[in-house]
Amino acid sequence: SETRAIPGYTYGQHPLASPILPEELTLLKQTVLFGPEDEQLLRLASEVLADQTEAILDVWYGFVGSHPHLLRYFSQQGQPDIQYLAAVRKRFGQWIIDTCTRPYDSVWLAYQQEIALRHHSIKKNQTDVARAEPIIHLRYILAFIVPLTVTMKDFLAAKGHDAQTVAWMHAAWFKAVTLTALLWSHPYVNANEF
Ligand code: HEM
Repeated sequence: SETRAIPGYTYGQHPLASPILPEELTLLKQTVLFGPEDEQLLRLASEVLADQTEAILDVWYGFVGSHPHLLRYFSQQGQPDIQYLAAVRKRFGQWIIDTCTRPYDSVWLAYQQEIALRHHSIKKNQTDVARAEPIIHLRYILAFIVPLTVTMKDFLAAKGHDAQTVAWMHAAWFKAVTLTALLWSHPYVNANEF
């Protein structure tokens, strides 16, 4: 699909060097109960969400902005970096659609590793030449599974699908976000502890 150039969005431009092997991803998908039907439900969700991404980002950015302990990760010496917030927001919007539509293959795995590094001190701030906090602590990455899931329910219900279909789409989204967050924990833990 046509992606207008998003600064710093480098999907498909990284060596396929994810430390997580496709076989391991298969086992992780089984463990979060992610199956082919979830892929179908996420495709449907992408249609439901396509024209709502800005509204979703308003909610998520409102959540971060109203919590100083989260906003600090976008801040330098206590001052939120508006340009950094705006630059990340564009990629975050693309991530919503990517999570629903991209095949979870080795290209996808490689970009998960890249985003993981961008949250970790290894690469944080580099993409946007920011000078904010040097690392996002792992505990908040894991904690974010909850707000990124709970807040999605109303958006998934907004296009008139029946309650059961909405619940299934919501469950598929929950599994996808959980899979994402756990993959992103990789740089934070010792090699043999992932
Ligand atoms: C970057 C999603 C947790 C702050 C990003 C991006 C996405 C994303 C999609 C842009 C990736 C790209 O460059 O293409 C998520 C998800 C999370 C999570 C799914 C948890 C499940 C957090 C938390 C914070 C946070 C807890 C703290 C407020 C940031 C910041 C960046 C970023 C500061 C820019 C990093 C950089 O310098 O490149 N996140 N995020 N994220 N996120 Fe998160």
